[in-house]
Amino acid sequence: MIKYNFDEIIDRSTTDSIKWSRRHLKENFDDEDNIPMWIADMDFKVAQPIINALISRAEHGIFGYGHKSDEFLDAVVNWQQRRNGWNIKKEWILFTPGIIPALNFIVETFCNPGDKVIIQTPVYYPFANIIQNNGCQIANNPLIRNNGRYEINFDEFEKIARDSRTKLFFLCSPHNPVGRVWTSEELQRMGEICLKNHVLVIADEIHSDLVYKRNSFVTFGKIAEQLKMKSIICTAPSKTFNLAGLHVSNIIIPNDRVRAELEHKLASIDIDPSSFASVAQIAAYNEGEEWLEQLLVYLQGNLDFIKKFLEEHLPKVTMLVPEATYLAWLDFGAYNLSDMKLQEMMRKRANVALDDGYIFGTGGERFQRINFACPRSVLQKALERLKKSFEDVEIEV
Ligand SMILES: Cc1ncc(COP(=O)(O)O)c(C=O)c1O
Repeated sequence: MIKYNFDEIIDRSTTDSIKWSRRHLKENFDDEDNIPMWIADMDFKVAQPIINALISRAEHGIFGYGHKSDEFLDAVVNWQQRRNGWNIKKEWILFTPGIIPALNFIVETFCNPGDKVIIQTPVYYPFANIIQNNGCQIANNPLIRNNGRYEINFDEFEKIARDSRTKLFFLCSPHNPVGRVWTSEELQRMGEICLKNHVLVIADEIHSDLVYKRNSFVTFGKIAEQLKMKSIICTAPSKTFNLAGLHVSNIIIPNDRVRAELEHKLASIDIDPSSFASVAQIAAYNEGEEWLEQLLVYLQGNLDFIKKFLEEHLPKVTMLVPEATYLAWLDFGAYNLSDMKLQEMMRKRANVALDDGYIFGTGGERFQRINFACPRSVLQKALERLKKSFEDVEIEV
């Protein structure tokens, strides 16, 4: 067994990391000395089998056109079977170089300009951009906060789904940034409303392996046969195994007709996994589980650390404890600062690069999202900076 050291601090500023790029930090946060805890990738080295596979592939020395090999597809099939108990067929899997590209292709394929796509804010902000950049309209059903937990407003959801212009639903499952793992009942209810109203469910399950309570995640593909047939399930090893820079995602579509439509779109663009994406996915899914189990323990430790730190030193900041993802959603509402003032506090005083809550849409105001997939010492340093910056801030009423 390999014992991974997630405490190791690795300098990423000399690589092509957008999160750590001094230029991007300066452009986005006015200061290049911010501690970067924004973009959702991890500051941890990947599992050793992935590194070995990439080195070996690099040493082969020929990087011609690739394809979705049987080994590449089997890795996804077996992963879904082992982790989610979902039996899928190889033929159901389409390749895209990321879920953002996939969502764009999906909107282009299944919507006409002016059509509506349901989202539930606060949510991963590129959803809104993708919808609008493709000439469509956002049909927002904001989540409801109930006793520190986010829930779905089903009445409003149904009303929006009934609109004949509503064609798709971007389901974020688990939900970034609020960290909810939707229950089977919630998924079923959303799915049934969509089925009844001819709305295709696009389940973005990119965070589904990063779940803190074992077996709590249920893939939309397993809820019910008729719901599965009206869905597209977007998966990827990128968040799970820290491979975002290798651009690999697997779009699972059980319905032949729906799949054929998207396949037609993808065929015209002619994209296949790169040589490195292929070997990384295969190694990650086939040999990465040991690393993942250790990662989840470390992330849980970071989460506990944040919780304790806030309770002791920043009790006015409330953390909505995530059930999944390495992103924590922090409520600064008690300070009653405007979004711009809160942003200024983070950028100019705390020097911590977090994501402003308002960019995630309605309901995100006065929140900040922190990416805690970093060595604990870095997390501690960032939290100390927050503490120092906020300790003399009066609560404004
Ligand atoms: C919900 C969600 N979907 C998609 C992505 C990005 O996917 P990709 O890098 O595969 O385009 C992210 C990244 O943070 C995300 O949180």
